[in-house]
Amino acid sequence: MESTIQDIFNKPKTLLEEIASVEINDAGSLEQFRIRFLGTKNILKPLFGEIRNVPNERKKEYGQLLNEVKQAAEAKFNDLQSTFQQKEGEKADDIDVTAPGIPMPLGARHPINLVRNKIIEIFNKLGFTVTYDREIEDDWHNFTALNMPEDHTARDMQDTFFIQTNPDVVLRTHTSSVQVRVMESQEPPIRILSPGRVYRNETISARAHCFFHQVEGLYIDKDVSFGDLKQTLFFFAQEMFGPDTQIKLRPSYFPFTEPSAEVDVSCFICNSKGCNVCKYTGWVEILGCGMVDPAVLENCGIDSNVYSGYAFGMGVERIAMLKYQINDIRLLSENDIRFLSQFKGA
Ligand code: PHE
Repeated sequence: MESTIQDIFNKPKTLLEEIASVEINDAGSLEQFRIRFLGTKNILKPLFGEIRNVPNERKKEYGQLLNEVKQAAEAKFNDLQSTFQQKEGEKADDIDVTAPGIPMPLGARHPINLVRNKIIEIFNKLGFTVTYDREIEDDWHNFTALNMPEDHTARDMQDTFFIQTNPDVVLRTHTSSVQVRVMESQEPPIRILSPGRVYRNETISARAHCFFHQVEGLYIDKDVSFGDLKQTLFFFAQEMFGPDTQIKLRPSYFPFTEPSAEVDVSCFICNSKGCNVCKYTGWVEILGCGMVDPAVLENCGIDSNVYSGYAFGMGVERIAMLKYQINDIRLLSENDIRFLSQFKGA
């Protein structure tokens, strides 16, 4: 019996020691302390219940002991609460509202998009609108309608990716396929740009990739002449590379245009004095073009006796590489942040 009474008296004494020695360093541990000693289910409650097991002559003593514990806990809590509250207050005062914010790193536009957008913007001024279409094409829209029937040697110019099981399905080798689709479905006048990704089975090197981007253009109306084409491309070159830019047209061959030409611009890097970009010729090639072959118009249901038109096509990578003097085409598809971040603000 005596040892049980001893136990009952020992409990509040241990708690007193705990209250005196417990380390409270932050608001969180203070809250734990409050819950343990002063909360609705605090540790003292069952001890008050024990009073009925204490002999009458010691009840007063026991009661006083419990009160002592409670007061010690309250005192410690009040004391520390004000310290932590003060600390919170001090923290609030510490906030410097004039301090600059944490900088948000801004991304950069991809050089391919920069150049593509610029090309579109320039031709928008001349009334060209943009049309997108599929990258997986059929033989007709990529080749046959464009004057390249099955056995035509010109197909070899465009190292095509075919689907093994179905030779009718190709990854488009140019976005001229989009122009065919527009001619088939719209009445002239037609004035469109077809930007997009194209695929060719080329060995990847610093100068060639198995996919790249084009912007092609098509204008069909009554009385469209080669002179219109030349003037349009001259305007484009000056807007793209600067007001002093000159253009030169060299005769060329494409199955879907007649006559055809390749267009050089005067080297904007060295002002045509000669540098390694223009290989000391003063000129750099930027696009292919020509008058749409009447047979192509007929293939697409357009009366070639009434309408004529011109088309042109350029590689976006090529222009980006010239404009930003990028010497390896692979940089444009590797997504290396060190490369891309150089185009911030461009
Ligand atoms: N489709 C041609 C190519 O991909 C480019 C081109 C378009 C040439 C229109 C002339 C006219 O090489």
